[in-house]
Amino acid sequence: MDFAGANILSVEQFERADIERIFSVADSMEPYALRHKVTRVLEGAILGNMFFEPSTRTRISFGCAFNLLGGEVRETTGFQSSAIAKGESLYDTARVLSGYSDVICMRHPGEGSVGEFSAASRVPVINGGDGANEHPSQALLDLYTIQKELRALGRTLNGLRIAMIGDLKYGRTVHSLSHLLCLFNDLHVVLISPDELAMPDEYVTKLRDHGHQVSVTSDLPNNISHVDIVYSTRIQEERFASKQEADSYRGRFRLNQAIYTKYCEPNTVIMHPLPRDSRADANELDNDLNQNPNLAIFRQADNGLLVRMALFAMILDVVEQVDKYARPVNWFHKRS
Ligand code: NCD
Repeated sequence: MDFAGANILSVEQFERADIERIFSVADSMEPYALRHKVTRVLEGAILGNMFFEPSTRTRISFGCAFNLLGGEVRETTGFQSSAIAKGESLYDTARVLSGYSDVICMRHPGEGSVGEFSAASRVPVINGGDGANEHPSQALLDLYTIQKELRALGRTLNGLRIAMIGDLKYGRTVHSLSHLLCLFNDLHVVLISPDELAMPDEYVTKLRDHGHQVSVTSDLPNNISHVDIVYSTRIQEERFASKQEADSYRGRFRLNQAIYTKYCEPNTVIMHPLPRDSRADANELDNDLNQNPNLAIFRQADNGLLVRMALFAMILDVVEQVDKYARPVNWFHKRS
């Protein structure tokens, strides 16, 4: 696809070559993300960062990614601090804000809302999550992480064995990741959730139609033994009719070091889009995994910066100029 000026609304718009291109640009962003160099390539450009649902990683990393390329960020968070609370439509908001920005990232609870917004926007729009539907940049960084972690173990994506665990019904990250996995071959996908929170049929059918082996189960321990990746997710309590209903699923699929040691193959990589729910009754990924070198959740979050920088550089068509506007950093930077 042609990235210059494109909206990023769904991973279904990508072909395999597009993913490879994004990942190779993401690799080239590493010196900037690691603060070895700074670039001013997006000097003068403005990102409109509009988050109408809670967000830490996605909002901050989109903002930092834009800053690291030399651009500026203007933000609105939550409906209450936006004129949408006064009854303004998505159409009007898009017309106005796209006059102030060069690119917009948006998160909104309504499925399809970011697409609707983008239709009225005069600048490219990136979907930062639209309800339970999609979260394309997260799926890209997840796949980028899977590829990097596997490469470190001498493996490639083809033949990947992955277990997705938790709230597969409302989890938009696993929806987008499932779509992306359809671009690869001979995968073994294990979908582990309470029956009521199973992956919607359309995703399961699509994975099977692409020739992948898919098993659907509600039994965690016996289904994480033969996978390369365990991808855990949070119960999406904000999508349930009541907190009580969400609470009834909380803590059903916990992974801790004892379960990992007993059931997983050595070097099984542990992923989670975060936030992990660390309350005692949830604890889907126990803190006792924090010292496990296969816990990739923070490397995964770091990778978000690279992938989001790549998306901005491609959409604003400056990939070839990033290094031209680079110089060494002035400050002492300690990172461990
Ligand atoms: C996810 C999301 O918002 O869908 N978080 C994120 O963007 N990394 C997952 C979640 O909230 O559970």
